[in-house]
Amino acid sequence: MKKILVTGALGQIGSELVIKMRGIYGTDNVIATDIRTIDSEVITGGPFEILDVTDAEKMFDIAKRHEVDTIIHLAALLSATAEAKPLLAWNLNMGGLVNALEVARELNCKFFTPSSIGAFGPTTPKDQTPQDTIQRPTTMYGVNKVSGELLCDYYYNKFGVDTRGLRFPGLISYATPPGGGTTDYAVDIYYKAIESGSYTSYIDKGTYMDMMYMPDALNAIINLMEADPSKLKHRNSFNVTAMSVEPEMVAEAIRKHIPDFKLDYDVDPVRQRIAESWPNSIDASAAADEWGFKAEYDLERMTEDMLKKLKK
Ligand code: SER
Repeated sequence: MKKILVTGALGQIGSELVIKMRGIYGTDNVIATDIRTIDSEVITGGPFEILDVTDAEKMFDIAKRHEVDTIIHLAALLSATAEAKPLLAWNLNMGGLVNALEVARELNCKFFTPSSIGAFGPTTPKDQTPQDTIQRPTTMYGVNKVSGELLCDYYYNKFGVDTRGLRFPGLISYATPPGGGTTDYAVDIYYKAIESGSYTSYIDKGTYMDMMYMPDALNAIINLMEADPSKLKHRNSFNVTAMSVEPEMVAEAIRKHIPDFKLDYDVDPVRQRIAESWPNSIDASAAADEWGFKAEYDLERMTEDMLKKLKK
């Protein structure tokens, strides 16, 4: 990776990945793009262009003009928003992806796009979900993610595009909040713990999902993209995870720092149904074996860091 184009650069992953990669690869070598502008270091701190990923021509122009050799395609709607607007999700998530893959094919770029635990469904084995298993998701987001994994493998097999991906669990971060996801409760709970000392969860007690702290997610992207291709048996996409948690466990970890923290519930049936269709925990051993994946943050360590950073 020498010159990198990032789509969706103002989103939850992009806003931190761009800054980290500019530190590693050089400020001018990471071209951030997004459909909007906001007050952000991503825009003021290096190259930035407005890009709607459904505009194939503009995406090609930007990539060609900057002579990029890598595309990190992050622009997408998350699960709950996609469920509310399924056609928009199909058009944006799949239209954006195929445009980005075409640019990668034409300009001979390496390619990364995230998949998700959302690529699994109710018939997938729920505990320690294997790397290779049943994928029959019941959400539009999941349909997009499975289709995306297949499409990326297709571009690799058919055209030789160096596509690589990760099935991310819920990502927890303090810099930019996520929007419209099912796992977002595990981010909101920390904000509310600091603001008001209590949180009302829309995901029910006892509902396990995998999570990962953003620093581990950023390292995983960079390490996978830098991995020796001859070691990769899989490509799209690798299971990765750091912890399997349910709301009470997160609350308990918060109480070690805020003893009076209160958690109650007002379950949202839509997001609860999505959560129940996803695994309780996933097995990341293929990622560990093929390119050395390892998460540094468990629930305790993440909670300590989240609360410290959010207090600032
Ligand atoms: N965090 C995502 C969501 O909840 C899952 O990939 O939609």
